[in-house]
Amino acid sequence: MKILLTGGLGYIGSHTAVELINSGYDVVIVDDLSNSKIEVLDAINEITGVKPKFYQIDVCDKQELVKVFEENSNIFAVIHFAGFKAVGESVKQPLKYYRNNMDSTFTLLEVMEKFNVNNFIFSSSATVYAVSEVMPIDESFPLGASNPYGRTKLFNENVLIDYQKANPDFNVILLRYFNPIGAHESGLLGEDPNGIPNNLMPYICKVAVGELDHLNIFGNDYKTKDGTGVRDYIHVVDLAVGHVKALDKLVNNKNYGLGIFNLGTGIGYSVLDIVNTFNKVNSNLVKYEFAERRPGDIDKMYASPKKAEEELGFKATRNLEDMCKSSYEYQKNHKEKK
Ligand code: WQD
Repeated sequence: MKILLTGGLGYIGSHTAVELINSGYDVVIVDDLSNSKIEVLDAINEITGVKPKFYQIDVCDKQELVKVFEENSNIFAVIHFAGFKAVGESVKQPLKYYRNNMDSTFTLLEVMEKFNVNNFIFSSSATVYAVSEVMPIDESFPLGASNPYGRTKLFNENVLIDYQKANPDFNVILLRYFNPIGAHESGLLGEDPNGIPNNLMPYICKVAVGELDHLNIFGNDYKTKDGTGVRDYIHVVDLAVGHVKALDKLVNNKNYGLGIFNLGTGIGYSVLDIVNTFNKVNSNLVKYEFAERRPGDIDKMYASPKKAEEELGFKATRNLEDMCKSSYEYQKNHKEKK
C-alpha cells in the first residue's frame, strides 16, 4: 500500500518513513530540502534496505505535485509533514509561514481530489492548545495558538476539519505532537536543525559535542518542582510508530471520518530533569547557566495520551534515558561526519 510523505526527509518524516517501510508500507517521499538533506534518503535505505522513491519538489507547486500523483498511481494516503516550524522565525516572518504552511495543504487537497486520494494524516502540534493551568491536556481542551507558526497548525486543522465535513468520503487524522526528541538507534537519523538550535535537546547535543559552550536554561522561577519548564518529551521513534497506528486505523476503517489525537507520553519532565539525565547517561558533558525566561514560554505542558491509546492502540514505550542516549549518539556520529 502506497503512502506519500511530504517533508519525508525531515526529522519526524524520516523516522516515520523507516517505521512505515518496516511495517510493509510502500513509501514515496517529496521534500524541497529547505530544512533537510538528501543524505537522509541513503540513511533510510541503509536502515531498511529500501530506498523510497524521492521527488525534490515544493508541495505548493501544483504542477510538480500533479506529476508525482500521475507517476504514482493508487496512493492510499498522504502524511503531511512539510512545513516551516521555527516559532521565533514565524514571529519575524509571518507571511512566509502562512503562505508556505497553508498553501501546501490547499495544493495537496486539490491534487488529492483530482486523483481520488481520500486519506490525510496531518502533522499538528501541542502548540494549538491555549495556555492552561490544568494538566494533563486532552483533545477537548480549548485551542488558541500564541504565535504565527502555531496558528498555521491551528488554521490547517480547521481547513481539514471543514474539508472533511464537506466531503464525508475523505478521512482525516490530526496528530498533535508534544515534544519529540531522540533519534533512531542506528545513529543514522536524528534532529539536524540549520544554525543555532531553538529547541532544548538539539542545543544540549551541540554543547555535548563541543560546538556550543553551555546551555542557557530559560528561567528557573516557573511554578514547577525545580523552577524550570516542564514538557512532555516523546521519543521520535515512538512518535513515528504513532503515525503507523493512525494509518492502520484508516486502512482498517474504510469510512473513518475525522480523528484528533495527542501524541505524548503523559509524563512531564523539567529542563533540569533532561540535563541531569543527559549527563548521567552521556558522561557529564553539559554545563549550564540559568538565564532569563524566553518570551512566550509556559510553566508546564504535558499530554493525556489516553485517547490515542484507546482508539489507536498507541502507547509510547521509550524512556528518557533512551531519548538522551540516542540524541547524543546521532549528534556524535553526525559531527564526526562533517
Ligand atoms: C523546551 C523547554 C524552554 C531551549 C517547541 C515549539 C512547539 C514544538 C516543540 C513544533 C522549555 C527550555 C529550550 C534552550 C531552555 N515544535 N529551553 N534552553 O518551546 O516546549 O516547544 O518545540 O511543533 O511548537 O513551541 O520546546 O525545546 O524549545 O523548549 O531552557 O536553549 O526547554 O524554556 O521550557 P517548546 P523547546
